[in-house]
Amino acid sequence: MRKDIKEILINEVTLQRRIDELGVEITKDYEGKNPLIICVLKGAVLFMADLVQRIDTTLEMDFMAISSYGDSTKTSGQVRILKDLEKSVENRDILIVEDIVDSGLTLAYIINLLRERNANSIKVCTLLEKPARRVAQVKMDYIGFEVPDEFVVGYGLDYAERYRNLPYIGILKEEIYNT
Ligand code: PRP
Ligand code: MN
Ligand code: MG
Repeated sequence: MRKDIKEILINEVTLQRRIDELGVEITKDYEGKNPLIICVLKGAVLFMADLVQRIDTTLEMDFMAISSYGDSTKTSGQVRILKDLEKSVENRDILIVEDIVDSGLTLAYIINLLRERNANSIKVCTLLEKPARRVAQVKMDYIGFEVPDEFVVGYGLDYAERYRNLPYIGILKEEIYNT
């Protein structure tokens, strides 16, 4: 699989070190609030798993599956719910956990939905953000890393469902998606 990767952009140690820092920050901000932490499947699953272990306060977790990319490298612009939350968000302090904010359409859709469902507060924690392709302006409260306008995979991020299991963030070789 490594042969499909042009370059490792963020290695395992750097990723984990940054997640330690985010955990400390989030712990401080949510002390005593019992936040509902929402993982946006599938991309955010590895980040979520590592992040919550570093948040040292009472919390609850829920999962939502959203898809806009399918097997393409470009967003379809159509956001679909594949699996909804199990918990009510009414009056809850919500922290949305994402792997990447690219066009921002996925996040804008989720934030809008949670607002309509009367969440008490909504914050966003994203591991990566790619400012180059932003369409919807969304406020991100915790950001791991800013990434360049390249197709990145690994640590949850896929291309056609593959590469999610890489422990690092890598740039995919163009020849993999240009065939
Ligand atoms: C990817 C990624 C984010 C979203 C970001 O999800 O995990 O959720 O796209 O893109 P945007 O800012 O342009 O909306 P995808 O739809 O590929 O589903 P997945 O998480 O299951 O891979
Ligand atoms: Mn996703
Ligand atoms: Mg995807």
